[in-house]
Amino acid sequence: MRFKGLILGSLLFGILFNASEARPPFTEEDLKLMHEELMNLVKKGDELFHSPKLGTNGLTCANCHPDGAFTNPNTFPKFQPNIGEVATLRDMINWCIKIPLEGKMLPHDSEEMKALEAYIYYMHRGYKLKPGDNTAPVPPVRVESGPGYP
Ligand code: HEC
Repeated sequence: MRFKGLILGSLLFGILFNASEARPPFTEEDLKLMHEELMNLVKKGDELFHSPKLGTNGLTCANCHPDGAFTNPNTFPKFQPNIGEVATLRDMINWCIKIPLEGKMLPHDSEEMKALEAYIYYMHRGYKLKPGDNTAPVPPVRVESGPGYP
């Protein structure tokens, strides 16, 4: 029967979600507003990425990662030898704040961390997810201090 899949699908949907609580599809206006919210955060991340205020030595993220290059957000989580465990993108953002920028690490749930993450992901839209990929190129600059660089 042609509609068997559809009927089974709606039955399953009804069981999993109380139909009265299901949200209606987003309107064009909703989508526009949600996109604007995201872009505000991306813009804030862009500013932070180009600002020396995350560190203490005048460097910015963009000095070593122009346009977000070599941040490889699509390869996380992955084992990071310099951290000594499986790391998330936020862990590596903090590692770079602490070591190359000689700054103070951000709380993982802070607005600044979210903004940096939003900017980095946005600059990599369309990239294929490759969790655990340790072959992606990192900046040509060696950071010769900190954990992992005795
Ligand atoms: C002086 C150069 C330098 C600066 C400035 C710098 N980084 Fe990095 N970054 C590196 C190096 C070198 C690595 C590779 C570390 C490794 O894996 O050995 C790296 C790695 C990363 C990675 C992980 C990439 C991967 O595939 O492992 C992220 C994410 C990242 N940096 C984000 C940032 C952010 C955000 C900032 C600003 C807060 C920043 N970096 C500032 C040099 C820099």
